[in-house]
Amino acid sequence: MGKSLTRKIIESHYVSGSMTPGEEVFIKVDQTLTHDINAVMTYLAFEATGLNRRRTECSVSYLDHNLLYVDHKTPDDHIYLQSAAKRFGVHVSRPGNGICHTVHVARFGAPGKISMGGDSHTPHGGSIGMLCIGVGGMDVATAMTGVPMRLKMPRVIQVKLTGRLKPGVNAKEVILKMLEKVTIKGGLGNVYEYTGEGAASLEVPQRATITNMGAELGATSSIFPADEQVRKFLKAQQREEAYTELLPDEDAEYDDTIEINLSELEPLISCPHQPDNVMPLKDVEKKPVQQVFIGSCTNTSYADVAKAALVFKGHHVNENVSCTCGIASRQTYKELMRDGYIEMLLDAGVRMLEISCGPCCAIGQTPATDGIAVRTSNRNFKGRAGNPNAKIYLVSPESAAATAILGTFASAEDVMGEDVKILGDIHEPDAYEVDDSMIIKPLPEEEAKKVEIVRGPNIKPLPIPDVPENNLVAPVSLKGGNNISTDDITPASAEFSSMRSNIPLMSQYCYHRYAPDFAARAKELGKSIIIGGENYGQGSSREHAAINPMYLGVKCVIAKSIARIHKGNLVNHGIIPMIFANPDDYDKIDLFDELSIENLLEQIPTRKVIVKDITKNFSFEVNLDLTDNEVEVVLCGGQLRYLKKQLAESNK
Ligand code: F3S
Repeated sequence: MGKSLTRKIIESHYVSGSMTPGEEVFIKVDQTLTHDINAVMTYLAFEATGLNRRRTECSVSYLDHNLLYVDHKTPDDHIYLQSAAKRFGVHVSRPGNGICHTVHVARFGAPGKISMGGDSHTPHGGSIGMLCIGVGGMDVATAMTGVPMRLKMPRVIQVKLTGRLKPGVNAKEVILKMLEKVTIKGGLGNVYEYTGEGAASLEVPQRATITNMGAELGATSSIFPADEQVRKFLKAQQREEAYTELLPDEDAEYDDTIEINLSELEPLISCPHQPDNVMPLKDVEKKPVQQVFIGSCTNTSYADVAKAALVFKGHHVNENVSCTCGIASRQTYKELMRDGYIEMLLDAGVRMLEISCGPCCAIGQTPATDGIAVRTSNRNFKGRAGNPNAKIYLVSPESAAATAILGTFASAEDVMGEDVKILGDIHEPDAYEVDDSMIIKPLPEEEAKKVEIVRGPNIKPLPIPDVPENNLVAPVSLKGGNNISTDDITPASAEFSSMRSNIPLMSQYCYHRYAPDFAARAKELGKSIIIGGENYGQGSSREHAAINPMYLGVKCVIAKSIARIHKGNLVNHGIIPMIFANPDDYDKIDLFDELSIENLLEQIPTRKVIVKDITKNFSFEVNLDLTDNEVEVVLCGGQLRYLKKQLAESNK
């Protein structure tokens, strides 16, 4: 049997381990990316390794998420990040150049490469036949040292696309359909590989909408073949030399197959508060919409925004709607401006925002109390927009524009009628205007060594976890339900995001919206254990959802299941992720129960641990779903200690 594209790329980067799905494989990583609200910890960790320069082919530091300088903290972070990048040979994409994933695919990505990014939507790069994996910031620091990276060998699922999208139906509908089929946790351990004539018909930015939001499936990654569409895109970016054709074998073997006929798709909507709560847009109960946001890395390509602008043409934003648009890159913004689409948006009363993530991660444009917000971004968790009372619905840019006009959920066809077919004529430009003047290139190594790293008062040292105790006795400091997201653990917003370089400060807001008394309680308890339900730690890759609890003394998380990236972050930051062997034991445990684990250090390598609930006088078993390498990291007390040990050994 032939090979999938995913398998071919992993094989070409193979260093050691097993290529059987579910087993641990070590691979070489070509590229890394980081962004401003997660990266300070990455570069502090890289500094702590003592290396002078990154050992990847290319690493890029994007200053893109939080451009709202409400006080000194974010500019402190940006200055630190820019100076650290210069010091270590990392490119910097300056504020205003664009959102990391969009810029990375356009200016740095290449088919067949492996990239790891400190952001869960890193698989965006799968749109050009790269294998791109979202990881925690500590993993990015590790990848930058050039050591082979561990990966659980994924199952590869073929998604066979047939037919073609109708005008008014967006690539967003494809990924919403996938979410309906697979659910938010069904993708765990999988790479989704898109194939077929339907896949061939999609342009690179349409593919990026799908691979980007594959993160919402809980998947390791998503990928499209590097075919004629990719060649066309790279040529339009004046980078045709980066193109190599890379396809799965015709008889490629897959672990499963899903089929979607693009011609049958109709506008869909994801309803609060999970991305997989999907239904046909025409069936959703009509409610007054308070806010519309057309933006984010997911859905603001040239064609996306041009189509939204055409829906607005001759109409105006409803007087009860606040409608904003944040375009993902400076390049796209300029193309849209040149072709008159920005003017159409302005004429319709759309408020143009700065080129950044902004509202997608609650940096501005928080909805009103109980407000209904309709967004083209990728997440609709409670509180994701900065207000836990708000209800976020996710749609395509065409549907968002129609909604802004009519003031309630609507599709492009509802506004344009038969004229909707003109949207089918809109495509990406044959040539983009290329201007990399907002990208700072790395200095030669000797010059870089002289660069001084600038640390403003917001840059606090990276906290390092303790080595696990052999006999642990600790109370339960929090009992959470299912689907706790990293947004629940470490809230998004301009205010909170700017605290991420300052753990003593930020930890005070850990679980701020979900369990406001948690931080004070955990601190008072000294050490403690968190109990969680299904899919604990889903969502954003932010490792602060591990660092802050660790700083507050949390030693283990025992949950029914734990999301992939968050599990990695817990391991990296010295919190042991444990899974109930019998999920019914979850119901027996209460807040403040005293739990005890004896001989923990001997039990960890067996991956089965007996926990005693001293308060209720019963014992239960938990499993550690850890690879051999992760076991070593846990026993070492986290990734930084482990990495230093590894580097010291390799220098002997
Ligand atoms: Fe930024 Fe939202 Fe994308 S935070 S990277 S626009 S998912």
